[in-house]
Amino acid sequence: MAWTLARRAHAMNPSVIREVLKLTERPGIISFAGGLPSPKTFPVDAFAESCARVLREDGQVALQYSASEGLPLLREQVAAMLPWPVDPAQVLITTGSQQGLDLVAKILIDPGSRVLVEDPTYLGALQAFAPMEPQVEGVPGDDEGVDLQALRRVARAGAAPRMLYLLPNFQNPTGRLMSEARRQALVQAAQELDLPLIEDNPYGELWFDAPPPAPLSARRPEGCIYLGSFSKVLSPGLRLGYLIAPAALYPKLLQAKQAADLHTPSFNQRMVADVLRDGFLDRHVPGIRALYKAQRDAMLAALEREMTGLGLEWNRPAGGMFLWARLPRGMDATELLPLAVERGVAFVPGAPFHAGESDPRTLRLSFVTATREQIATGIARLAQAIRAYPLRQAA
Ligand SMILES: Cc1ncc(COP(=O)(O)O)c(C=O)c1O
Repeated sequence: MAWTLARRAHAMNPSVIREVLKLTERPGIISFAGGLPSPKTFPVDAFAESCARVLREDGQVALQYSASEGLPLLREQVAAMLPWPVDPAQVLITTGSQQGLDLVAKILIDPGSRVLVEDPTYLGALQAFAPMEPQVEGVPGDDEGVDLQALRRVARAGAAPRMLYLLPNFQNPTGRLMSEARRQALVQAAQELDLPLIEDNPYGELWFDAPPPAPLSARRPEGCIYLGSFSKVLSPGLRLGYLIAPAALYPKLLQAKQAADLHTPSFNQRMVADVLRDGFLDRHVPGIRALYKAQRDAMLAALEREMTGLGLEWNRPAGGMFLWARLPRGMDATELLPLAVERGVAFVPGAPFHAGESDPRTLRLSFVTATREQIATGIARLAQAIRAYPLRQAA
């Protein structure tokens, strides 16, 4: 039987990270490769209580189909959590923020549409956009965010882009935080360019010393779609996210959502709405911040200790889950990976995160799932792999 695939199916790619993760499943490997939150942060007891209460008090409704917009109580809770005035009618509960990316892509991208992204950017967004066959263009940046001169140049270099996709807070993969000054200037530039912004913010609550500056959406609500998630503050297994859309776009996003899955699981929504009562996140999230900060510090200390003289450069993320590093000139992170895995440590090479010109020297290290002892051992192993690299190249 000869199946003929649609063009959009040809545009779909396997996630490079999944391929890397397969490598890390070998016993004894210390993995800095994954993008998973630490399971130690999952509030299992709170969910056990809420699960029982929802079934006891509301079981038949919780197990029934429900509205595509989401549970009214949860939509109110989400609106109240956000740091700018949001009408609950603008909140669409999604099946993870990954679904938000898919819905946005479906309603905004035609084949050949120009889509701008930070370079590097979140691989899962590139995967969500790819089936709509956009022309994706990367905008380079520095430690503070996208470079606005480059943005103006790229935006004006062809047909009006349909959107600019941004991660202002503790970006995946770089861990970078967009500064207040850059946010102001970016919103100004987006206004001038009439450029729609998609603001993806799964990591914003995971700050270590100070909360991040106000979201772009707070400054330009009519020109932004905001994506949020419960994955990093409660649990990714629930698949619960949300988007905040301007009133003019909301009906189309809702129709796309209905076509995709009718609604996000009613039961999960009720459980989370129950868990969130009485300010649960205000008590729970500080523990995640403290844990991740200690883990980041352990990784920074290990890098200082082990990498002296090896020419590796790295940043100091102020929140989130990832640290971004750059190998010395002449080295390629994809080629380093097998040497690292042989020595019992794994990371994700940075190249696939780049939409534009790829930098083979970059790599992403997650500091949240390994223990502090494993971080120390894993970074020492990584240093051994880096030392072995030139020898192997010369052989
Ligand atoms: C930047 C970014 N956006 C979206 C997602 C998807 O998250 P969710 O679990 O809410 O679908 C992730 C997951 O790692 C992410 O890193």
